[in-house]
Amino acid sequence: MIHTKILGTGSYAPSNVVTNDDLTKIVDTSDEWIYSRTGIKKRHITQDEYTIDLAEKAAKKAIKDAQIDVNNIDLVIVATVTPDNAFPGVSNLLQKRLGLDEIMTFDINAACSGFIYALNIADKMIKSGSYKNALIVGAETLTRLTDWSDRNTCVLFGDGAGAFVISKSNENKIKDVITGSVSDDEGHLICQSPALKDPAKNVISKQDHIHMNGREVFKFATRIMPSTVEKLLKRNNMKKAAIDHVIAHQANARIIQKAAKTLNIPMDKMYLNIQKYGNTSAASVPLAIDQAIKEGVLKRGETFITVAFGGGFTYGGALIEF
Ligand SMILES: CC(C)(COP(=O)(O)OP(=O)(O)OC[C@H]1O[C@@H](n2cnc3c(N)ncnc32)[C@H](O)[C@@H]1OP(=O)(O)O)[C@@H](O)C(=O)NCCC(=O)NCCS
Repeated sequence: MIHTKILGTGSYAPSNVVTNDDLTKIVDTSDEWIYSRTGIKKRHITQDEYTIDLAEKAAKKAIKDAQIDVNNIDLVIVATVTPDNAFPGVSNLLQKRLGLDEIMTFDINAACSGFIYALNIADKMIKSGSYKNALIVGAETLTRLTDWSDRNTCVLFGDGAGAFVISKSNENKIKDVITGSVSDDEGHLICQSPALKDPAKNVISKQDHIHMNGREVFKFATRIMPSTVEKLLKRNNMKKAAIDHVIAHQANARIIQKAAKTLNIPMDKMYLNIQKYGNTSAASVPLAIDQAIKEGVLKRGETFITVAFGGGFTYGGALIEF
C-alpha cells in the first residue's frame, strides 16, 4: 500500500505591512472594531509582486526544506483565486521558474479551501502509484480583488503564499483528506467574471471585486468546520485528545473560537496567525502550518487536523501526522 507524507513546507508574504490604523485613513473603521470582530491586527499587501512571484518564493523554500532534488518533483498544483492570467496558469509559469520540464502542472480554484483540495488531489495521485513527489502551493494576491471603499470586506484580506512538498512514503502520515462543497447559488461570497460581450460593441471588460454577506459566511463556517473535524475523527477512529493541534483557515479568530467551543477543544490547541496576515484565502492554510512548524509549535511526530471553508461554498479537512 502506498502512503504519503509531508516532506517540506515553506511560506512567503510580501514585505509591505498595512496595519488596522493605516486602514482608518482609507475607510471609516478602527483598530478596536477590526481586532475585536476578526482578530486581525495587520496584513501584508503586495505592491509589485504577482501571484507567481509569491508562489515561487514559497515553493523554493518548501523544496529546500524538503531537501529534495527539484528534478524529482513530478506534479505541481497551485490553488488560487487570483491567477495572474486566465491562462497560462500560475503552475505552468512556476514550472519554468523552478527549472521543471514536461511534468503535469495545473491550477485549481476552490477559494479558501483550495489548498486542501490540492492536497487531496495530490495525495490521491501519489497513492494511485503514478506520481512520487508533488509540489502543492496556495498563493494569492487577494488585495487586487478587494473593494478598498467597502469597510465590510477590505479590512479582512491580505496577500501571501504557502507550499508543501508531499511524497510517497512507507509511513502513513497523511492519514485522511476530506473535501466537499455546498452550492452558494445566492452569491453570499462572490467575485464575478467579466460580463458577456456584444461583438458589435466590444466594450472593454471590467474586473469585479469581492462581495460578501458576512453573517451567512460566518454561519456556514461555524457549522462546517466542527462537522468536518468530527467526521475526520470518526472516519479514523480517533479521539479528540489524540489531536495535538487544529490549524484552521485563518478567516476570523471568532470563527475559530466558536468552532473550538462547539468541538470542546481548548483554544491553546487552535493555532492562530490571523493577527499578522488577515485572510489570505488559499494561502492561509499552508502559511499557518508552515509558521506553526517554524515557530516550534507543530513538531515532528505530532498529529494535527487542518480545516478550511471558503467561497463556493467549499470546505475541506485533513488528518496528518507531521
Ligand atoms: C465580516 C464580519 C467580521 C462582520 O462582523 P459582524 O459582527 O457580523 O458585524 P456586522 O456585519 O453585524 O456589522 C456590524 C456593524 O459594524 C459595521 N462595520 C462593518 N465593517 C466595519 C468596519 N470595518 N469598521 C467599523 N464598522 C464596521 C457595519 O456597518 C454594521 O454597522 P450597522 O450596525 O450600523 O449597520 C463577520 O460577519 C465575519 O467574519 N463573517 C465571515 C467573513 C469571512 O470569513 N469571510 C471570508 C470567508 S473565506
